[in-house]
Amino acid sequence: MIVLGIESTAHTFGVGIMNSEGEVLANIFDSYSSTEGGMVPDKVVQHHEEVAEKVLADALSKAKVSWEEIEFIAYSAGPGLDPALWAGYKKAQKWSEKYGKKLVGVNHCAAHLSIGKEINELEDPVYVYVSGVNTQVITFDGGKYRVMGETLDIGLGNMLDKFGRVIGLGFPAGPDIEKLAKKGKYIELPYVVKGMDTSFSGILSKVKQLYEKGVSKEDLCFSVQEVCFAMLAEVSERALAHTSKKELLLVGGVGANKRFCEMLAIMCQEREAKFYKVPMDLARDNAAMIAWEGFLRKDTHGDEGVKTFWRVDEV
Ligand code: ATP
Ligand code: FE2
Repeated sequence: MIVLGIESTAHTFGVGIMNSEGEVLANIFDSYSSTEGGMVPDKVVQHHEEVAEKVLADALSKAKVSWEEIEFIAYSAGPGLDPALWAGYKKAQKWSEKYGKKLVGVNHCAAHLSIGKEINELEDPVYVYVSGVNTQVITFDGGKYRVMGETLDIGLGNMLDKFGRVIGLGFPAGPDIEKLAKKGKYIELPYVVKGMDTSFSGILSKVKQLYEKGVSKEDLCFSVQEVCFAMLAEVSERALAHTSKKELLLVGGVGANKRFCEMLAIMCQEREAKFYKVPMDLARDNAAMIAWEGFLRKDTHGDEGVKTFWRVDEV
């Protein structure tokens, strides 16, 4: 069975094609970016509308499949940026009508988790999901995803992007922060873990103040990384201890960060768990993961419309 997936929850418009053996046949995306101003909703929609047909054509040609071979269309129904979700849903509806394929709306967060589990062939991991909007430690228990801990305010990726704007970096800022951090040294920042939850907005305020006082970009980048990643290593370790699970899987765009992976890998090694990550093309927002999640949910999900605030523990 071949499934076509559409991703459009935020900055990325993607079309992915997967078969039921878990093979990625195509995973094409085009992401909105800007040198200043962050993610402007109108511009994101405009971007998605402009690139959609080309991304679709590229995906079909890369996968060497025709519409006749595709079983159905999976799309990201939520959660996400409302206008971006609608842009994707309208494309999904259009292609569904044009090619006579049914729609399966899936949860974008669940897709990040499922693709990571499939690619690494895992049994039952603790998931650390760190992207722009989301920062959650998740387990699967009693037939449902459980959020064991999460950010009490903004996601770590958004925090890094906001911090990036303050120090004059473009969007997304994560990769540049990682580069600058290599030349920095440690300065003290607030460390905010409450039970299993984390909070990043206070750290953001603090680094803004320090930047205005003249602390270097490099030192701030290094220290933000060290503190925020340590906070997440701490709650992840506690989740492993509490559940007695032996696999830790990092998903979401912030998972591209090498220092973050290193810290989690060391923590896992020390407690005889195994650390896994996802190749970047499948870890960031992408549509292959949407196709795969669609395959897993094809019997329970249908046209779900747009669900802007759909939580992973409601799946
Ligand atoms: P979701 O809808 O699941 O929250 P998302 O739209 O935020 O996803 P992702 O592609 O999963 O998108 O993650 C994007 C985030 O990852 C951005 O905030 C970006 O700054 C951050 N990021 C990317 N590369 C790095 C890196 N090397 N280090 C730190 N953060 C990074
Ligand atoms: Fe995402």
